[in-house]
Amino acid sequence: MSNTILVGAQWGDEGKGKIIDYLTEQADIVVRAQGGANAGHTVIVGKTKYILHLIPSGILRNRTTCVIGNGVVIDPAGLVEEIDGLKQNGIDPAGRLLVSDAAHMVFPYHKALDAAREALKGRGKIGTTLRGIGPAYGDKIARSGLRMGSILNAKRFVEQLGQAVRDNNILLRSLGARPLPLKRTMDGVLKAARRLRPYVTNTVQLLHKAVAAEKRILFEGAQGTFLDIDHGTFPYVTSSNTTAGGMCTGSGIPPTMIDRVIGVAKAYTTRVGEGPMPSEDRVVGDLLHGMGREYGATTGRERRCGWFDAVTVRQSARLNGITDLALTNLDGLDTLGSIKVCVGYRLGGKPIDHQPSDLAQLARCRPVYETFPGWQTPTDKIRTWKALPPNARRYAKALAKLTGTRLSHASVGPGRSQTITL
Ligand code: IMP
Ligand code: MG
Repeated sequence: MSNTILVGAQWGDEGKGKIIDYLTEQADIVVRAQGGANAGHTVIVGKTKYILHLIPSGILRNRTTCVIGNGVVIDPAGLVEEIDGLKQNGIDPAGRLLVSDAAHMVFPYHKALDAAREALKGRGKIGTTLRGIGPAYGDKIARSGLRMGSILNAKRFVEQLGQAVRDNNILLRSLGARPLPLKRTMDGVLKAARRLRPYVTNTVQLLHKAVAAEKRILFEGAQGTFLDIDHGTFPYVTSSNTTAGGMCTGSGIPPTMIDRVIGVAKAYTTRVGEGPMPSEDRVVGDLLHGMGREYGATTGRERRCGWFDAVTVRQSARLNGITDLALTNLDGLDTLGSIKVCVGYRLGGKPIDHQPSDLAQLARCRPVYETFPGWQTPTDKIRTWKALPPNARRYAKALAKLTGTRLSHASVGPGRSQTITL
């Protein structure tokens, strides 16, 4: 197997960064193809905890080339900050990190617009990460955004950026928000842009050359299937295609060159931000928050928690063509005597086996649960499938069966070594 896509099968935060880090051993190139600094991929190596927002998690292995593809939206200042953070930990991305010249940029006014629009929505807010993601993708689709390649022509970029800041200040004022100071805003962006110039290149050509040389590519999906702009719980979604197809358009690598799709799912469900979540349950939230778990890596917000929802993950398996299921956070359920799994919904008394696309209907869906016996044994030190408690194995296998996938990995903690391969 050479080219692998890894996607989140739920609402994000499935533990993709950790699984990517584990799989990177078998990859030459790791590619991010969508999203931006709204992502927060946590990887723990030894005693150091890394939270990566834009740079692929593969950067933590020194043999791996990392690509930020054309489908990503990049905040130049944020990227520089991330590069510097890695350098402080002895990791220099120079020469190993390549940034697409066709990737659109996120500017301070996108963040200001994100905040202004959320404020206007009031109680109907999306609960975004306020990283400017929606407004930046909006500019891309409206064909008015600026791409990374434009920083290579410094003189022209100054003009383009100046015009963009002035135009968007008009927009900000009209939304009742404060305009940005022109000079200070531009200086910040220009300073970061200068630093990023050496990283910018035509990554589509680079990736195709790599494929021809039989290099192995790993696509690091960000967010999760139900945050997909088309297939998620619109409008409570992010502004990119988080599903497998997005990895192709966001990188220039066609579907026929993909050999494997791994879906990552937690052994339960979490979600950050607003929007329906049928299996949400206080019992699970209290348990996990009590253990100090399930706080957002990007925003620090408490994540909403619930039981594993087999309806959504089954749908996710279809949307992404998931071949392998990597189940994470199994250890989060270690203390429970019994564990519920949402195996179907009831809508107005009738059973339903998929997520309705109408949000109002989804909000009225009631979960149908099946109960599984817990294992009440710590699993975080277990390293082989056979050594897992029988009830943990039964639970994990049942989730794969219910979702029509093949269980490929089970993860029992955030560390590199806490990943069991089946
Ligand atoms: P945005 O992507 O910042 O526009 O936020 C839109 C929605 O997606 C909000 O509900 C966010 O909480 C959610 N979201 C965005 N990125 C992530 C992520 O990486 N993990 C989990 N939720 C995310
Ligand atoms: Mg995250």
